[in-house]
Amino acid sequence: MKVACPSPGATAALGAALGAACRGGEVLRVSGDLGAGKTVLAKGVAGGLGIDPHGVTSPTFTLLTIHRGRLPFYHVDLYRVSGPDEIAHLELFDEVEGPGVTFVEWPERAESRLPPGGLTVRIEDGGDGGREVTLSADADHAHLLAAAERFSKAA
Ligand SMILES: Nc1ncnc2c1ncn2[C@@H]1O[C@H](COP(=O)(O)OP(=O)(O)OP(=O)(O)O)[C@@H](O)[C@H]1O
Ligand SMILES: [Mg+2]
Repeated sequence: MKVACPSPGATAALGAALGAACRGGEVLRVSGDLGAGKTVLAKGVAGGLGIDPHGVTSPTFTLLTIHRGRLPFYHVDLYRVSGPDEIAHLELFDEVEGPGVTFVEWPERAESRLPPGGLTVRIEDGGDGGREVTLSADADHAHLLAAAERFSKAA
C-alpha cells in the first residue's frame, strides 16, 4: 500500500501510528535515498512508543542505538556498512533487552544479516516536497499495515 506524506510532520505522524501499533518483536526495514525521511519516520515510531523523538538521531558511526520506551526501540543505521561481511562478527540482533521494535535504515547494505520479513517501507519523492511511502508486510506484521491503512484513511 502507499501513503502520501506531504510534510515531515505527516511522515512523523505515520511513524507514530506504526509505533503505537507495535506489540514487541517487530522489524521495520526502511529504505530510501539520503534525506528521504527515514530518520523522520524513526522519530515518529519512537514517539508512538513513548520515547522522546528528540533523542532519536542517526550518529554517523553508531550502528545500533537502544532507546527505552513502552517497548525497547532498536534503531539501526547501516549506511556506513559496506556489506554483510563487515558486520559478520556483530550480534546486532541479539535483542539484549527483550523483544522490542527494530527499525533499520539502509537495510540493503547488509540484507543477509537481517532477520527475514518484517514491515518493508520505501520512502520516495512524491513531488512538491512530499514523500510517497510504500509499505508491505509479512503475516507477522499485518497489524502494522492495518495501522498504516487507518492512518491513511484518517489523513
Ligand atoms: N514529506 C517529508 N517527509 C519526511 N522528511 C521530509 C519531508 N519533506 C521534507 N523532508 C525533510 O527531509 C529530510 C529528511 O531527513 P532524514 O534525516 O529523515 O533522512 P534519512 O532518510 O534518514 O537520510 P539518511 O540516509 O541520511 O539517514 C529532513 O530535513 C526533513 O525535514
Ligand atoms: Mg537517517
